[in-house]
Amino acid sequence: MALSVVVLISGSGSNLQALIDQSLQNSLNIAIRAVISNKEGAFGLERAKKANIPTHVLSHKEYDSRESFDQALQNTIDIYQPELIVLAGFMRILTENFTRYYQGKMLNIHPSLLPKYKGLDTHARAIAAKDKFHGVSVHFVSAQLDAGAVIIQASTQIQSNDTPDSLAKRISKLEHIIYPKAVKWFSENRLIEKESKAWLDGSPLPKNGFQYNQ
Ligand code: GRF
Repeated sequence: MALSVVVLISGSGSNLQALIDQSLQNSLNIAIRAVISNKEGAFGLERAKKANIPTHVLSHKEYDSRESFDQALQNTIDIYQPELIVLAGFMRILTENFTRYYQGKMLNIHPSLLPKYKGLDTHARAIAAKDKFHGVSVHFVSAQLDAGAVIIQASTQIQSNDTPDSLAKRISKLEHIIYPKAVKWFSENRLIEKESKAWLDGSPLPKNGFQYNQ
C-alpha cells in the first residue's frame, strides 16, 4: 500500500515536484493526499493542482497566535490521516505541541550541513565563514528549530567564485535526490526515529546522518 503523505509548503515547491515525479515514475510508493501552504500565491500550489492533489491555503496572518494557527493546521492535516508529513520549504516555526503530536512522522529539509547554520541565509553564512563544504540535510522534526535527528546529508565543495545563488542552485539539485530517498526509506519502514536518533535498517545513523555521495 502506498504511504499516505501530506506536504506543507510556502513557496516554489521544487521538492514537492521531486516527490510527485518520483511517485508518478513508480520509484516512490507514496500517495500525496494534500498540499497545504501558508502562502496564497505559492507556486507549489500550481504544481499540486497539475498533479490533481487537493490543496489548502491556511494563512498564518488570519490567526492571532502561533498556537491557534498550528491547531488549524493540525486539524487540516488530520482530515487526511497521513502516515508522514513532509515539510518542503514550509517557512513557519512550529509550536512544541504541534511537533510533539507528529513526533517521528514529520520530516524537514534544511539547506545546510546541520548542526551548522540553523535558520535562514545558510548559503551566505557558509560563504562568509569560508567553509570548504556546504550542503543540505533531511531530518526528523523536533521541538527545537532545525535540531531533530539528521537522516541524510549531501554536500558540495564551495568554489572561490560561488555566490549564495550559485550555491543554492547546486544544493537544490541535491535536495531533489536526497529528500525522495529519505521518504522512500520511511515508506519502506526502514527509517524510524527512536531515542532522539534516526535509525535505518535497525541501526542508529551517525549524528550527521547517512552521507550521500554522487
Ligand atoms: C529549500 O532550499 C529547502 O532546503 C528549504 O526551503 C527550500 C524549498 O524549496 N527548506 P522548494 O520550495 O522546495 O523549491
